[in-house]
Amino acid sequence: MTAIAAPPAISQIGTAARNNGTAPVSVPLAARAIGATKVYGSRSTQVVALDDVTLALPRGRFTAVMGPSGSGKSTLMHCLAGLDNLTSGQVFIGDADLSGMNDRQLTLLRRERIGFIFQAFNLVPTLTAVENITLPLDLAGRPLDQAWFDQVMSATGLRNRLGHKPEELSGGQQQRVAVSRALISQPEIIFADEPTGNLDSASGDEILSFMRRATDEFGQTIVMVTHSPVAATYADNVLFLADGRIVDDLANPTADSVLDRIRELGA
Ligand SMILES: Nc1ncnc2c1ncn2[C@@H]1O[C@H](COP(=O)(O)OP(=O)(O)OP(=O)(O)O)[C@@H](O)[C@H]1O
Ligand SMILES: [Mg+2]
Repeated sequence: MTAIAAPPAISQIGTAARNNGTAPVSVPLAARAIGATKVYGSRSTQVVALDDVTLALPRGRFTAVMGPSGSGKSTLMHCLAGLDNLTSGQVFIGDADLSGMNDRQLTLLRRERIGFIFQAFNLVPTLTAVENITLPLDLAGRPLDQAWFDQVMSATGLRNRLGHKPEELSGGQQQRVAVSRALISQPEIIFADEPTGNLDSASGDEILSFMRRATDEFGQTIVMVTHSPVAATYADNVLFLADGRIVDDLANPTADSVLDRIRELGA
């Protein structure tokens, strides 16, 4: 295990938190990784899925993560979200160091502070749309903020589908339920792993526009893995991974600039 120095003050790391590349400015961080390394398997079958990744994710930003298949995107998300543990290094949600937490503490942290959106929606089939959406609050024993619920429902346009079970909804509607479920508890950070991977482009655009609004209008922090240059343009910046390392960080992405970068990186 590599020795890790005490982390810098929360306001002082991250290229994204710098003012014209020189003076550090005070930008609170939603999450960060310091020397994050994840090795799967033992000697002969060893895979270095994350190789010494240090990054800072400022609050109130929509960040996309891109890179070739197997470059470590899902591993990075899972380790940042406390769904998998690092081999060495540290990850933080806000000021909380996940490396020292036991399973119970990680479960609580995920329940109370993190939202998830997966490619496969992961809705509970026996619950209605509204029951799925409020599930995180029910599990945490927290009351529903009706005004916030109404806002999320207006944005997702799900109001007349709330009594339906997932199998009675289209893929786009199911993913809107999953996005609503992630937003409803206003988590400190939402991790989305290819949220539009199973959707046609119109449904995908709807979900992405909604995620964009969640950041613009409600300051929601979102980190999204995607293979789609178009999806990446909804983000404020794009991190590129290759072989478990961050190799680039592109601000204000356009489809052309993302495609250029993918070509340069051979991704
Ligand atoms: N549980 C595991 N055991 C062994 N190796 C794993 C495990 N999970 C991931 N890996 C390996 O770690 C590397 C990174 O995997 P990861 O799932 O993070 O890639 P990814 O960038 O999300 O790829 P994709 O775009 O295909 O989803 C890959 O080589 C993968 O085979
Ligand atoms: Mg993946």
